[in-house]
Amino acid sequence: MYVLEATAVACANIAFIKYWGKRDAELNLPANSSLSMNLDRLTTLTTVEFSPNYDDDLVILDGREETGAARQRIVTHLDRVRAMAGLRARAKVVSENSFPVGAGLASSASGFAALSLAASRAAGLELSQQELSILARFGSGSACRSVPGGFTEWTAGTCSEDSFATQIAPPEHWELRDVIAIVSRAHKRVGSTEGHALAPTSHLHQARVASVAERLAQAKAALLEKDLATLGPLIEEDAFSMHAVMMTSRPPIHYWLPSSIRLIHEVQNWRAEGLEVYFTFDAGPNVHLICQAGDQAEVERRLKGIEGVLEVIVSGPGPGARVIAP
Ligand code: PMV
Repeated sequence: MYVLEATAVACANIAFIKYWGKRDAELNLPANSSLSMNLDRLTTLTTVEFSPNYDDDLVILDGREETGAARQRIVTHLDRVRAMAGLRARAKVVSENSFPVGAGLASSASGFAALSLAASRAAGLELSQQELSILARFGSGSACRSVPGGFTEWTAGTCSEDSFATQIAPPEHWELRDVIAIVSRAHKRVGSTEGHALAPTSHLHQARVASVAERLAQAKAALLEKDLATLGPLIEEDAFSMHAVMMTSRPPIHYWLPSSIRLIHEVQNWRAEGLEVYFTFDAGPNVHLICQAGDQAEVERRLKGIEGVLEVIVSGPGPGARVIAP
């Protein structure tokens, strides 16, 4: 007998070593391994209900019915779960993000991690963490890293079965903070799916991919030792390396705004003054400032005085994807 309804919650994550470019777009296999921290304040709560009474899949995100490509991406993911469970029933998906809609923050990681768990559980599947991470990966690459809790590593692997994320340290390992400075709420012009496909057109892509393994090993060791003075510069180097690939793709992608660049310089000044804070970016202009809990208030205070910062959202290390009900 199927449990036909389940609700799950999952965190977004911020990558310290980024994933950019796919070696297999169909299987969503990444060009390189990546390392990230789950973000406890950026969550998606998703309820999936399969019912023979539904004629079609219905997707409601933050109170609005999804249509077109956004809906189709979720329907395709539901189809994966239906195929695994041998289920034909259509579903109703209701999903709520904890963070402001349109804040310019990626919701695909938390969204597909929560959807994978809620849909698989509703379909009666009891997936292992590894199987769930693989399923989430098909929805959105970075979503596989939101399945385990705390600090996670997505090993690029050799095939679909060994490309998933595992925990390298639990959330309580280190009181790190991601202080996100929102400088734009606009929807990005080039989404990550399109961006990943452009990566190989950059002459820097192969060089970046070849350099990741060493940087990731160093970053992982620094993370395990709670050594921000070593980890921070590696995080920044990797973000610049990814954006260099973006900026040299054909056509090029420029995600930074003047305020993003202003913040790069500010953070460098703050560091020279003794404040231990580093920055990173995803595929967008918003700046993620990484610091330890003891410096969070000072980083927030300084951000408040900067022109172009619309909003500040602070997250600590978050848990893995989990079922809330039933
Ligand atoms: O999971 P996707 O396809 O949205 O790609 C995420 C890409 C970056 O956020 C830019 C980097 C990363 O590793 O999270």
